[in-house]
Amino acid sequence: MTQALSTATPTVTLAGGATMPLIGFGTHPLRGQEATDAILQALDLGYRSVDTATRYQNQDAVGEALRQTSIPREEIFVTTKLPPDAVGFERKTLEQSLEALGTQYVDLWLMHWPPGGSPGAGSWREFLRAREEGLVRAIGVSNYQIRLLDALKRETGEYPEVAQLQWSPVHFSERYLTACRERGVVVGAHSPLRSARLDDPVLTETAQAHGATPTQVIIRWDVQHGVAVVPKSAHRDRMLSNLDVMRFTLSEDEMNALDALSELE
Ligand SMILES: NC(=O)c1ccc[n+]([C@@H]2O[C@H](COP(=O)([O-])OP(=O)(O)OC[C@H]3O[C@@H](n4cnc5c(N)ncnc54)[C@H](OP(=O)(O)O)[C@@H]3O)[C@@H](O)[C@H]2O)c1
Repeated sequence: MTQALSTATPTVTLAGGATMPLIGFGTHPLRGQEATDAILQALDLGYRSVDTATRYQNQDAVGEALRQTSIPREEIFVTTKLPPDAVGFERKTLEQSLEALGTQYVDLWLMHWPPGGSPGAGSWREFLRAREEGLVRAIGVSNYQIRLLDALKRETGEYPEVAQLQWSPVHFSERYLTACRERGVVVGAHSPLRSARLDDPVLTETAQAHGATPTQVIIRWDVQHGVAVVPKSAHRDRMLSNLDVMRFTLSEDEMNALDALSELE
């Protein structure tokens, strides 16, 4: 049996004051008992952040893990997401999420996709209301371009606190990262491993230099960029390995070499 990590996961403070772990557990496409078991194992290993969504149809399974674990609710950062087809039903969808999760609040509520490619200002106003009422601690978006972040700010006066998107060295965008930093938005990385080229020599050589694996290098690279990453695994040894990235540091040259793997722009 593997052991929980003694080193705490680094965190970031969001614009509204909430503290978010920089490494979280991705739950898609896990469902039912498999999802509950995986989340319980992840919590046992030291994860304190769980990424779910209405779309994943596993919020009840996440809720079951939250009920079964001995870790207090306030120590676990729970993210869920509003599907783009729930425009006009934001509050009802949030209430359904809270009920399925068996919790009075979520730590982070994201707009999963820009609804119909638009910024979704109407939904965003509902997000602001939900945060004011304490039903969600922080609010953000997913799969948004910078121009859509700016449109939300223009139309509602508020930027998202988090912008989650597909993000790995292959998708690295200095422009996106800098624009988010300038706007006080924390970048979140989804599909960090699935969307990467794990056999890229830059990655494998960097991993070798640190006695680490390519997946650990990617997760460490995210953490050093201040990006909140949510790798998923159904395997306990991989869950642990994905969390165990604080015992080595990537040099500036190594960070730059990984950034240069970007195939964007
Ligand atoms: N906002 C969005 O639109 C959006 C979209 C996609 C995903 N997400 C979120 O992001 C999370 C992660 O993304 P993802 O699930 O697409 O992909 P991912 O976490 O990048 O990769 C998961 C895949 O990598 C494997 N894996 C995990 N750890 C590994 C390791 N140490 N070594 C080798 N293989 C490893 C997993 O296999 P095993 O499970 O077999 O170990 C699984 O096949 C999702 O679970 C979800 O919470 C959000």
